[in-house]
Amino acid sequence: MTSPQPTDADWWRQAVVYQIYPRSFADSDGDGVGDLQGILSRVPYLIDLGIDAVWLSPFYPSALADGGYDVDDYRNVDPRLGTLDDFGQLVEALHAANIKLIVDIVPNHTSDRHVWFQEALEAQPGTPARDRYIFRDGEGDQPPSDWDSIFGGSAWAQTPDGQWYLHLFAAEQPDLNWAHPEVRDDFLTTLRFWSDRGVDGFRVDVAHALVKDLTEPFKSKTELPRMSESNGVHPLFDRDEVHEIYRDWRKVLNEYDPPRSAVAEAFVPAARRARYASADGLGQAFNFDLLQANWDYAKFRRVIEENLALADQNGSSSTWVFSNHDVVRHATRYGLPNDPTGGWQDGKAWLLSNGTEPTVDVELGLRRARAAIMLMLALPGSAYLYQGEELGLQEVGELPAANLQDPAYFRSKGAEKGRDGCRVPIPWTVGGLSFGFGTGGSHLLQPKWFGQYSVEAQDGVAESTLSLYRKALAVRRGLQTANELTWNDGVDWVLHFTRPGGWQSITNFGEAPVELPDAAVVLSSSPLEGAKLPADTTAWLI
Ligand code: GLC
Repeated sequence: MTSPQPTDADWWRQAVVYQIYPRSFADSDGDGVGDLQGILSRVPYLIDLGIDAVWLSPFYPSALADGGYDVDDYRNVDPRLGTLDDFGQLVEALHAANIKLIVDIVPNHTSDRHVWFQEALEAQPGTPARDRYIFRDGEGDQPPSDWDSIFGGSAWAQTPDGQWYLHLFAAEQPDLNWAHPEVRDDFLTTLRFWSDRGVDGFRVDVAHALVKDLTEPFKSKTELPRMSESNGVHPLFDRDEVHEIYRDWRKVLNEYDPPRSAVAEAFVPAARRARYASADGLGQAFNFDLLQANWDYAKFRRVIEENLALADQNGSSSTWVFSNHDVVRHATRYGLPNDPTGGWQDGKAWLLSNGTEPTVDVELGLRRARAAIMLMLALPGSAYLYQGEELGLQEVGELPAANLQDPAYFRSKGAEKGRDGCRVPIPWTVGGLSFGFGTGGSHLLQPKWFGQYSVEAQDGVAESTLSLYRKALAVRRGLQTANELTWNDGVDWVLHFTRPGGWQSITNFGEAPVELPDAAVVLSSSPLEGAKLPADTTAWLI
């Protein structure tokens, strides 16, 4: 069966997207913080890896109260990271290599240094300047409600004149009021600004939180519906009216040729995800279900079936992701004890809290991570990779407290260790200052063991994880077609499917080796045992 060739407008549907967290990728000027020229110098590496697109986490001016997700100015580059001219060079170099570029857009909140918030603070209560945000009077000396910020502590912060403003994340990230026309217009301007500069798509941060029902009296946090049952009635998240905003965005994105893509980061139940991924909305939405599943055959199978069906229903394509800048790296998660209730492996951002880390089985974690990525790359849909996972990099659990940056650590008063352990600058060389990250140090401290995971240590080594990713991406490029997938049922703990063209992927989640089907093996995540597929291994056959 042949599939239609995707038009350029459809490039995102089966793309392999590589996420770069710019401050931790490559540092060109030795200040310990990665930058755009650093990324530019590594474009040849991205070409060799064989990805289709780069997703760049925020590179905008920011005080880094939340790793750049506290944006001071949406239409500029943080001077520590470069200039708009550097950005132009990066777009040009990526496009010359046939790699698309997606940038992060953060519409739920600005930083507290944004010119609008500064104006709001200088203005009186009840003035239009305050109305771009969510200011309210408190109850005596108490905040307007008992809502918690996602990073811990109250979701309200008080200004010197006594009013409170809402911040679902850190206090330095005041939530915008999306009922305000100026807020709506300004983000359309931002979409055009980057689209005009050649950006191919947008990753929409906290896409499900923009519209809020702030009718008073506010419900107590104990009365708020659980997100899993929200169904559009939660006052703060996933309200149906949010899609009016994305319909306006889609019109702007469609002004371009090809239309700019968008992918929603929306923590909503699977059945409500389609709204974000609709053709008159953002077009695609992240699905974090695999990321949250333990290494478990039945869970993987259920998640894959459900998401392929959902994507089919609304003409989108599935997204798959195991790691990003918010979660413990999956090579580490899969080496943690398997807790049937979810627990350690379930991908929660903040699970390595101080003093309670269980022992990580590094070898097992890496073995499963290699099997998992081959499984994921064989699925229909787009695959999102996070910088360093192609090196099999482990989470850095031992960052000293004085070096931690994540507001989740500070706001939880240390109960949550936070997300810095997956954001440590990646190792390029076996040794040297900052393992080739730059000519200076590194803003998050790299551990001694980083060198063995470096690009230098793995380049050209046949059995390395980097080689596995390069080979898998090259094979996928030749075989990936449309959305079809046929299950080959057999043993309960073996996940086996065939794609159009006869490409088979088979993963053994069990403990004992299993017989391989009679077909030529193209690639395997660990060495095979004769004609048998060992435990925690994926093979591709054709
Ligand atoms: C998203 C980002 C995360 C950030 C939060 C607030 O979840 O991925 O890094 O802290 O939004 O912007």
